[in-house]
Order: sequence, then structure tokens, then C-alpha cells
Amino acid sequence: MPIKFQNVSYTYSPKTPFAFKALEDINIEIHEGDFVAIVGRTGCGKSTLIQHMNALFNPSEGSVIIDDFNNDSDKKKRSKKVKDLRHKVGMVFQFPEYQLFEENVEKDVAFAPKNFGMKEKEALEKAHEALAKVGLGEEFYARSPFELSGGEKRRVAIAGILAASPSYLIVDEPTAGLDPSGAAKLMGLFKEIHEAGTTIVLVTHDMDLVMKYCNRVIVIDNGKVAMETTPNKLFDIEVEKYSLETPLLLSFTASLIKGGLPINENQVTSISELAKEIARVKKK
Ligand SMILES: Nc1ncnc2c1ncn2[C@@H]1O[C@H](COP(=O)(O)OP(=O)(O)O)[C@@H](O)[C@H]1O
Ligand SMILES: [Mg+2]
Repeated sequence: MPIKFQNVSYTYSPKTPFAFKALEDINIEIHEGDFVAIVGRTGCGKSTLIQHMNALFNPSEGSVIIDDFNNDSDKKKRSKKVKDLRHKVGMVFQFPEYQLFEENVEKDVAFAPKNFGMKEKEALEKAHEALAKVGLGEEFYARSPFELSGGEKRRVAIAGILAASPSYLIVDEPTAGLDPSGAAKLMGLFKEIHEAGTTIVLVTHDMDLVMKYCNRVIVIDNGKVAMETTPNKLFDIEVEKYSLETPLLLSFTASLIKGGLPINENQVTSISELAKEIARVKKK
């Protein structure tokens, strides 16, 4: 089932002199099985938007429907089972490592499944599974999360979300501050999780990641949806208008076309597809 935003607006500090409308009339749908990117310049409203998906924020106007949960601006219409919703929709904040709090890694990761009703033993099994997924073995179980490296802390925090087996995984700039190999590993993990059936919403600035991993992209500008498209169309549009960069693959493709190769740009969704296109036009 989908996540549906229906005419959603959100105002910070309403009815005060500091009132600020961060979202305006958002109408989008996240489909089951999507790996969708939410992009746009800093301050455009991405984090505000995604926090409506697990009811950390309630809309000021409109409603967000997450499966059978109605996160409505009208309190009377709003669904009550917030805990079930948060079990279903896992949210990884930017710099989730700041949310670690238990004395050891194993307890920290087991916290969510326990909180969602699992017995101790089962929660620990889930924690071990999740830690294995993020590449942290037994030797980490008893360590304090606070004495790990930055990248390890982030992996522990992400394992804590995965341990609850969410149906939707929302990740807010997960690769921010990671080195390229750390970022690639993390994206590889999200790809695996997606292939195993989890719907993923990725907030990012990195258009190369969008190109490589996502099937759909939603561009937010100034609290509004500026466009919805597929990643391979990102060079048709003036992405720079939204402080975004054209994905490297597409700017390279554009240079090849400009240089005289009659490549069909619609075919270019990955490096291997581009290679096939080059081979095709060269054969002629
Ligand atoms: N607690 C807050 N109070 C008032 N304004 C806020 C608050 N949090 C964010 N904003 C403003 O709302 C806008 C959207 O913020 P945010 O959703 O964090 O953007 P993004 O994640 O795209 O960088 C920004 O202009 C930001 O300054
Ligand atoms: Mg943000």
C-alpha cells in the first residue's frame, strides 16, 4: 500500500510572529516497492516532509495516508495507533549516531524490537541479524556505542532501525559526512534491503546516488513539489535551478551526444546501459 500526501501544508510555530510555512500543498505518492529520492536545496523542506510519514509531524492542512493510518491535520480524524505506524515506518535521521544511548551495541540495537513488543531473546536475535547486515560482527556486541568510529556508530544506529523490520525505510541524507567507500557500502545495504521488499525513501543531495539507485525522484523547491520524474530524465530539466547537479553519467552522455554520437538518451539508466548504447551506435 502507498504513502499518500493529500494537499499537505505545514507551518512551524503557527499563530505566532515566527510562523513559517515550510510545506505548501504537497500531493505526492510513494508506491510500494519504490526506491524514491527526495531532493532539493538545503532548507527546501525535505526533512519536514519525511517526518510526516511516521507522524512525528502532523500536517497543518491536508492529510498523509500511510497504508491504513491517517495522519490528518484534523485531530479527530487522525489515527491513534502511532506506535504501530512507527514500527512499520523506520526513520533514519541525518546523523543518527547522535541517538545512540544504551551502554552497549547489542542493547542499543535490540531496543526497538523490544519496544515494539518482542521478547528479549527474539529481540536479541533480530539485533544480531541487523548488525550482521550492516557488517558488524559479534566482537561489537559488548562494546560501548560511544567509543566506536563515526562510521561504525552510524551503522549501529541504522541496525537499530532495521532490527524492527520496517516495511518503509526513510533515510535522511544517510551518506552525509561518510567517505566514498563508506557511502557506497551503505547504499549497497539499502539496495539489498530494497530488493528484499522494503520501500525506500532517500533524502539526498547526491544526484549520482539518485541516478544509480532510485526509480523515481521528487524535487522539492521552497516547500512545494517542483517536479516528479525518473532519474534518467534529470538532464532534460534545469536541475541547477534547484541547486542540484546533473548526474555525472548524464552529463557525460550529453557530451557524447554533443560530440556527434547518436545515443538514445532515454536508454541511459546506468553505466552498462550507456556502454551498450555506445556499442550499438558504433556498429552502425
Ligand atoms: N523548528 C523549526 N522552526 C522554524 N522553522 C524551521 C524549523 N525547522 C526547520 N525550519 C525551516 O523550515 C524550512 C525547511 O526545513 P527542513 O525541512 O529542515 O529543510 P531541508 O531538510 O530540506 O534542509 C527551512 O527554511 C528551515 O529553516
Ligand atoms: Mg534536512
